[in-house]
Amino acid sequence: MSNTTPSPLVSVEAVHKSYGALEILKGISFDVSRGEVVCLIGPSGSGKTTMVRCINHLETIQAGRITVGGEMIGYREHNGHLLELPESRISLQRQKIGMVFQRFNLFPNLTALGNITVGPVRVQRRREAEVRAEALELLRRVRLADKADNFPSQLSGGQQQRVAIARALAMKPEVMLFDEPTSALDPETVGEVLDVIKELAAEGMTMIIVTHELGFARDVADRVIMMDQGEIVEIGAATEMFSAPRSDRTRAFLQSLK
Ligand SMILES: Nc1ncnc2c1ncn2[C@@H]1O[C@H](COP(=O)(O)OP(=O)(O)OP(=O)(O)O)[C@@H](O)[C@H]1O
Ligand SMILES: [Mg+2]
Repeated sequence: MSNTTPSPLVSVEAVHKSYGALEILKGISFDVSRGEVVCLIGPSGSGKTTMVRCINHLETIQAGRITVGGEMIGYREHNGHLLELPESRISLQRQKIGMVFQRFNLFPNLTALGNITVGPVRVQRRREAEVRAEALELLRRVRLADKADNFPSQLSGGQQQRVAIARALAMKPEVMLFDEPTSALDPETVGEVLDVIKELAAEGMTMIIVTHELGFARDVADRVIMMDQGEIVEIGAATEMFSAPRSDRTRAFLQSLK
């Protein structure tokens, strides 16, 4: 066994996604190793959000397969066809895939602490006292120990997004997906959210992050995937891709951000 390479934690194989006649993902393939951080970049409409939503089956796919920890997400194979799994099974699969959206989607009627504990208690049926202790520790990690009792409306955008990150972590996911986690934030609160994500990277969390923050991608990403028009144009280390893009499309996109 010692010669075998470890299997990837996330594997995306030839994924096709269409809305009606419109093909949005045109055969996307990439792997993410355990502990790896991959940033997805690319122009608006290139399919980045759609791609990450497919990974936790918020979107159906028409062909290809996505596995997390070796388990196919959303489907089982039957006589060469994909059959969608029942919602209860998909809900179990989603527990190992944390997702943080552009907008924080916190429950407005729950406190910061309540937002973090509700999933583990209601969905995972874990003991409230234990979950609460872990949630307080998570709040400390995202530097919001003093905001446990605040409601979302009493928190800044950056603080709400850090609660959303803590909420996702409370489910003890194997991989975290982020879709432009800072693009809806006031500029002064962007840094505090990126710092939390950088800490997660340093702690070895596997992450797939859609971002337009190239400086952040350079700091945090092991690899960057450049998408355009539903295809992967280029995959590589951030430093190389940003200083010497191999593709004209990557070069044009990087220019457009300057
Ligand atoms: N529910 C939907 N129905 C039809 N088309 C959709 C739907 N959602 C997305 N699309 C289309 O799919 C394409 C890819 O969208 P997607 O949101 O994945 O792009 P993106 O790379 O995340 O863009 P942005 O950088 O603006 O967030 C776009 O052309 C979009 O209009
Ligand atoms: Mg998007």
